[in-house]
Amino acid sequence: MKHARMTLDKAFQIGPIDPRIYGSFLEHMGRAIYEGIYEPGHPAADEQGFRTDVIRLVRDLGVPIVRYPGGNFVSGFQWEDSVGSHRPHRLDLAWFATEPNAVGLHEFCDWCEKAQTAPMYCVNLGTRGPEQARDVVEYANHPSGSKFSDMRIANGKKEPLNIKLWCLGNEMDGPWQMGSKTAQEYARIANESAKMMKWVDPSIELVACGSSGFEMPTFGSWEWTVLDECYDNIDYISLHRYYGNPTGKTSDFLARTMDMDAFIRSVIALCDAVKGKKHAKKSIHLSFDEWNIIYHTGDQEAYLRSMRWGQAVHRAEDVYNFEDALLTGSILITLLRNADRVKIACLAQLVNVIAPIMTRGGGGCWAQTTYYPFMHASRYGRGAALRAAVDSPVYDCVDYEGVPFIDATATLADDGSVTVFCVNRSTTEPFALDMDLHGFGALRIGEHILLHNDDAKAVNTESAPYTVVPTPGPGGCIDGEKATLHIPALSWNVIRFVR
Ligand code: AHR
Repeated sequence: MKHARMTLDKAFQIGPIDPRIYGSFLEHMGRAIYEGIYEPGHPAADEQGFRTDVIRLVRDLGVPIVRYPGGNFVSGFQWEDSVGSHRPHRLDLAWFATEPNAVGLHEFCDWCEKAQTAPMYCVNLGTRGPEQARDVVEYANHPSGSKFSDMRIANGKKEPLNIKLWCLGNEMDGPWQMGSKTAQEYARIANESAKMMKWVDPSIELVACGSSGFEMPTFGSWEWTVLDECYDNIDYISLHRYYGNPTGKTSDFLARTMDMDAFIRSVIALCDAVKGKKHAKKSIHLSFDEWNIIYHTGDQEAYLRSMRWGQAVHRAEDVYNFEDALLTGSILITLLRNADRVKIACLAQLVNVIAPIMTRGGGGCWAQTTYYPFMHASRYGRGAALRAAVDSPVYDCVDYEGVPFIDATATLADDGSVTVFCVNRSTTEPFALDMDLHGFGALRIGEHILLHNDDAKAVNTESAPYTVVPTPGPGGCIDGEKATLHIPALSWNVIRFVR
């Protein structure tokens, strides 16, 4: 059997894990909201029309924040349409749909409470600007005695909605975005919005838009311009990345996180270069507020054209297979490895649209394959991220040389337990993972959770929802500070060392 080695030392820590790296995203897009979280008349709907079966799956997944209401949608959105009793239908030019505004700001905050999460609210800096951005902060967070706070009270919420985390627009360098901007145009508007939003409520945190992708021609100079202009008034800069599977080859696909790691490092370098230039004390951290896999639905253009101005249209409903779950695991490992700088991350999205949770209108809801690694990381990847030294045999693939077969990291929980997260990228070879554990005291192997399927393309569906589900893994043995774990070929593993 092949061997890999992992060395952990209690003294070598990357830093505390911000639980918000396990965030997600709900956009007014496709069937995410309507027929997703909200379906009045469904047998599982509560008095507000929210599906309780979906809420249960969201709670179990463990998402501390949910970004809302877009995405591209937000760049034409007028927040006032989504509150009070007059809810106009609007043409949404992001997705060529009709937005009924039945679910709005109050309803979303109510849903967040029910789903045990918190809103990360995005303001429109595409077709709108600083004034409307400060107005919605006043509406949501100011106690009373002003136009917008009193409007909130009149609309039924006496207490502030208390939204702590806000995004300054979405993907503003993308030509597909309503009101897209040059870096200089965006930087000025974002900075003025940030100033005014924080003057209304100094306790909020703000995420400025980074470039909408690592491959964009704007990447780098966009970040530099935005950071240079907004540094004092923002807290985070955003990163977005979606992965496809152009060769269809598992080994090529599972190497995608090499790109993600390089992307994160590049943005850290840009943040710190501007910090150096400004002699600043504070650091800007990273909000990886859109990440996922998208390619299964491919080119839907003809179908979507025929559904122009529809509601709850089936859009981007990717059915995720087992190898997608493995890449999701590797993405989570990459986020943990960068936990000192990535403080927020959002799996885009949460329900029906490129999502871990699927529903059928009037029917059931179920967990896709990708649900499980996310749930495991959110549940067990809390506390401190350990600086794991991993030595693994490597392979070459279409885009990269030297891809480690064993992609792994570890976390230390407050109760002293240590959790190892590990993806074996080899399609054929099981590995023995030899571990050195220094300074943790006496530990035993409490649990090995395994996600494996002989078929990399296996999926979960409404009629067969348990095709790819976690099972107990083969575990291993521990003797003092030495342990050996058995890692099956092509697998996601969570190994919990407990006291
Ligand atoms: O998540 C789907 C879309 O992808 C979002 O609306 C947009 O921000 C990104 O391009």
